This record gives sequence, C-alpha cells and structure tokens, in this order.
Amino acid sequence: MLVYRDLLTGDELLSDSFPYKEIENGMLWEVEGKWVVKGPIAVDIAANPSAEGSDEDEIVDDKAVKVIDIVDTFRLQEQPSFDKRQFAAYMKQYANNLTPKLEQEKQEAFKQHMEGATNYLQSKLDDLKIFAGESMHENGSLVFAYCKEGATDPTFLYLAYGLKEIEC
Ligand SMILES: *[C@@H]1O[C@H](CO)[C@@H](O)[C@H](O)[C@H]1NC(C)=O
Repeated sequence: MLVYRDLLTGDELLSDSFPYKEIENGMLWEVEGKWVVKGPIAVDIAANPSAEGSDEDEIVDDKAVKVIDIVDTFRLQEQPSFDKRQFAAYMKQYANNLTPKLEQEKQEAFKQHMEGATNYLQSKLDDLKIFAGESMHENGSLVFAYCKEGATDPTFLYLAYGLKEIEC
C-alpha cells in the first residue's frame, strides 16, 4: 500500500486506495471523494432484532453520521474559506517553503507550472472547500474540494509536489 504524506508536515493526506488523475501538468491530483454513512447503524439493528419499533429506529439513526470518505480517513480539518488575496498569499508562502525541499529537477517543473495550477484553483475559489492535514500546521499543504457540476460527491484537488510517497 502506498501512503502520501505532506512533505512539509508528515501528515497523511492520501493513499492509493483513492485513485488520482494528474491535471495541470502534474501539479494537481484530482481525486474523487464520496459521501458515506458511518456509524453502528447496521450493527445495532442486527444486535437488536426484537427491539421495539420506532423509538429504536430513531436512536439508531442518530448514530449514523454522513461523512466524506477522504476527509474521514485522513482526518482532514476543514478551514475557513479564502478570498483571492489570502489564497495568493498562501500559495506564495507554500511555494517558498516547499521549493527548497524538492530535488533540482522537480524544483524547475514546480516553478514552471505553479502559476497555471494557482490559476486553476483560483478560478474555482468561490466553490472550494479548504482542508488542512490533521496537525493543522500553518505551513502544511492544503487540500481543496469542490463539487463538479451536477455532482453530489466532492472532487478533491491535491498539490502533488507537496506529497511524499511512502510504501507501507
Ligand atoms: C511557516 O513558514 C514561514 C515562512 O517560511 C516561517 O517564517 C514560519 O516560521 C513557519 N511556521 C512554522 C510554525 O514553522
């Protein structure tokens, strides 16, 4: 299994259980998230086959939580949205922190395509939900999510160069 950690903070952000697609010259990874129901709902029903009707159902329902699989699996922390200026400032600082950590060859590709990737994200800024990794480190890589037109499940966008692949 492959796990992808934030190169700057070590937070686990993704794994190969979630296939990705490279976009924007490999700068961004697009990953499909899914709303899933989490909770002991099925277990409770099975454990109490003779429990009385509607009361029990209500209690069971309360325990079922709808979560987004990626957010739940990697304990991503939703952040307040950014305006254009805040987003530009974040990307600039992120690039400054990340670039020295990349190998020479990657540094050049990163610099070359950073603007394109930033513009791509910027164009969706109003629709983006923003998530930090579990540690919520101020300089960590953010993960973005939005719903494509007509979709109910969110699509995630990862800053690919900031991910470190680890085999485990
Ligand atoms: C975040 O990055 C900035 C700029 O590189 C640096 O000054 C600051 O100390 C960093 N913060 C942490 C908590 O490492």
